[in-house]
Amino acid sequence: MTPVCVKAPAKINLHLEVLGLRDDGFHELAMVMQSIDLADEFECENTADGTLSLSCDQPGLSCGDDNLIMRAARLLRDRSGFGELGARMHLRKRIPIGAGLAGGSSDGAAALVGLNTLWGLGLGASQLETLAADLGSDMPFCISGGTQLCFGRGERLEVLPEATAPLGVLLVKDPSISVSTPWAYGECRRERFHHYLEGESVFEQRREALRSAAWLSPLRIESPPPLRNDLQAVVAPQTPSVRTALSLLEALPGQLRVAMSGSGPSCFALFPDFNTAEQARLHAAAQFEAEGLQSWSCSLLPFGVKLAA
Ligand code: C5P
Repeated sequence: MTPVCVKAPAKINLHLEVLGLRDDGFHELAMVMQSIDLADEFECENTADGTLSLSCDQPGLSCGDDNLIMRAARLLRDRSGFGELGARMHLRKRIPIGAGLAGGSSDGAAALVGLNTLWGLGLGASQLETLAADLGSDMPFCISGGTQLCFGRGERLEVLPEATAPLGVLLVKDPSISVSTPWAYGECRRERFHHYLEGESVFEQRREALRSAAWLSPLRIESPPPLRNDLQAVVAPQTPSVRTALSLLEALPGQLRVAMSGSGPSCFALFPDFNTAEQARLHAAAQFEAEGLQSWSCSLLPFGVKLAA
């Protein structure tokens, strides 16, 4: 039987606003997430023996029960009611790990989409998003991806129109550094708690302000996204490679805006298109290398995880 292949793209945050704390201990967020064409590849095929197994081309990554792919596979199988289903799964990793690019979440979302097809379960995107929300706050977005408003923990999605601008993204990351998401939110709470908003009506005002922001619907070059990330102010002072990345990106000719993505440490600059992002990357290649930073030029993607043709 032919294996099912799924592309699992990374995301960047065009807006990450921490509104306040929720009763469940998570943060109430108002975000705009955007898929980009830096992607992992997930592959799965049926096994006759009802076992679930995962391998990966990156030796440092755990393929055990803690991996979001394995968790997604078990959850989908449990909810399907067919306990005998099995799959041999393989991941080709391209998205840097612990980078604020939702690589792990996108892999988990790819497993839900790929296994749903492999096992012929027939679940729709919204059913897969509901399952994904049980596994991680960023994972529901990764199912349909593109450009979306993400509220609540990140799982309340509102799809936005496709960008009319072909914006290019220059992404940089120090491969020796990763940032723990719980740590970043914990630091945010410690430092900024006194600025947190309280109450559903105030949260809704902020959501409404973001929905009607002039730079959205759709994204375009004439008014590029202002880029806000509330975690940047917490993570950058404690992470030298983030400060270095931000200042190198800010100095690049032609960049429109610069910010950290998610809880970091990857940072990105927006450019009018892919070619200008790639020219800037080549122009600064020696500086990035001298600072130990890896770099990628990417385009925006109007979709999330997708079955490969
Ligand atoms: O949902 P996920 O497992 O990705 O979240 C990882 C951690 O990030 C949570 O355990 C929590 O500490 C923090 N977090 C948060 N508020 C959110 C999302 C994540 O505080 N909306």
